[in-house]
Amino acid sequence: MEDLLWYKNAVFYEIYVRAFADGNGDGKGDFAGLTSKLDYLVALGVDCLWIMPMYPSPLLDDGYDISDYTHIHPDYGSMQDFKTFLTAAHDRGLKVIVDLVLNHTSDQHPWFQAARRDAKSPYRDYYVWSDTDRKYSEARIIFVDIEKSNWSWDDAAGEYYWHRFYASQPDLNYDNPSVQEEMRNVVKFWLDLGIDGFRADAVPYLFEREGTNCENLPETHAYLKRLRHFIDIYYPGRILLCEANQWPEDVRPYFGEGDEFHMGFHFPIMPRIFMALRRGDRSPLVWITGRTPPIPESCQWCTFLRNHDELTLEMVTPEERQWMWQEYAPEPRMRLNLGIRRRLAPLLDNDRRKIELANSHLFTLPGSPVIYYGDEIGMGDNVWLRDRDGVRTPMQWEASPGAGFSSVDPGQFYLPLIDAKPYGPEKVNVVGQLSDEGSFLNTIRRMIAVHKQNAALGWGDFGWVEAGDPAVAAYCRGCGEGERILVVNNLSGKPIQMPLSGLGARRLVDLFDSTLEIETEKEPVLVLEPYAYRWLRLV
Ligand code: BGC
Repeated sequence: MEDLLWYKNAVFYEIYVRAFADGNGDGKGDFAGLTSKLDYLVALGVDCLWIMPMYPSPLLDDGYDISDYTHIHPDYGSMQDFKTFLTAAHDRGLKVIVDLVLNHTSDQHPWFQAARRDAKSPYRDYYVWSDTDRKYSEARIIFVDIEKSNWSWDDAAGEYYWHRFYASQPDLNYDNPSVQEEMRNVVKFWLDLGIDGFRADAVPYLFEREGTNCENLPETHAYLKRLRHFIDIYYPGRILLCEANQWPEDVRPYFGEGDEFHMGFHFPIMPRIFMALRRGDRSPLVWITGRTPPIPESCQWCTFLRNHDELTLEMVTPEERQWMWQEYAPEPRMRLNLGIRRRLAPLLDNDRRKIELANSHLFTLPGSPVIYYGDEIGMGDNVWLRDRDGVRTPMQWEASPGAGFSSVDPGQFYLPLIDAKPYGPEKVNVVGQLSDEGSFLNTIRRMIAVHKQNAALGWGDFGWVEAGDPAVAAYCRGCGEGERILVVNNLSGKPIQMPLSGLGARRLVDLFDSTLEIETEKEPVLVLEPYAYRWLRLV
């Protein structure tokens, strides 16, 4: 029987199709290229691919500005190419979820074009119009570096229209039942094609109400619940993953009673992994796990270290944000909006120990881990590129000048390859790391494998374990009866001896190497090298 709760202990992998592999030699990644790389993803061990928007779009927000919801962007190939990809992925046991942008369309979408030209068009009311730009003044601006208001004037319409993101992304009007139905039909279209679910983009902002900050409104939850109900009836086993960059108590309602989203990103824990690591102190993690409410049994968090956006610092205090900027984005170019536009490896000084340690948290804290393409080989970034392009550069497959990304001259790539030492393809690439048993890529493969073999990491409870030193993040997964795993992370650059006496008489078996065993009665102390981590089964 199909496992309807497959996502509870799955490992996700986020793919930007344009960046992954170019199948037709035009310098831009496409579905043919991605299909040719599926065996790599199978060997990596991931379970589910998350495909960033692949729809027709003027690409002013890399496809999050959709001008047609039911076709494929010509750069990425044809609908047939997409179907071929999907079948090939399914044949290999991989699930596929795609981005679903509910909140807004591109201003090039025919609905908006019709709406702005004709006040009597049925599409006028698909968007949110006003003759003043002072409504909903309590709603924050998200892209603060670029946008000064959530309202933009449209000459053709003679009115202002509402947008939570770029002005080229007018918000849909969810008070209009036709909009609700159109988007449900989009959901149906892709589920009928066979995809396994959606990463639902920017869901807190669907409705607007005066006197509120226009986020997480009851009307928004009611609509999302109806969408979920529709999926449950006709497409059981397909999932909705919630992108709500909010505090845990505000994300909690998106799970409902197990009748809204199956999954939700845990945004606030992400910067705290970086904080804990830099401070050599587990307190930020203790604080945020303590603030995270339980979720229904059928639901799951998604954890991540980096993604295609800036490392957002919205879910921290202003003081913490300053500190994070100072520590992780010392140069102004590294900052964007309220975040940091850098990749994982450069953020962690390209220090293998720290990068592994961050991943140790990713794979063992509650939630299903999401890997951002390229981070599994330690790719670098390019802060000289615009917006978030610096973390969306071509995947580095091999050491050749084109990095194996495309057959065309690299000068014609959609974005330049990373060339800054030591992150260029001659050093950082898939082929080289696959053939090196000790490579970072092979470590990530082992982490994925261990994660999948140990249901407690997906299903288990979570509890902190006293470690004697605040620099040690030690916790237990699956703390009840049955399988119990002790995870120990040394957040500091100093060696630490962690007393094991609190565990009683136990045998601890290393999950990476079962020949490594500790008898607590004989060895009452665990010696942790700087930035070391251990994943241990309690027997
Ligand atoms: C996506 C961004 C995008 C924004 C607007 C997000 O939250 O992750 O990449 O710019 O939604 O669609």
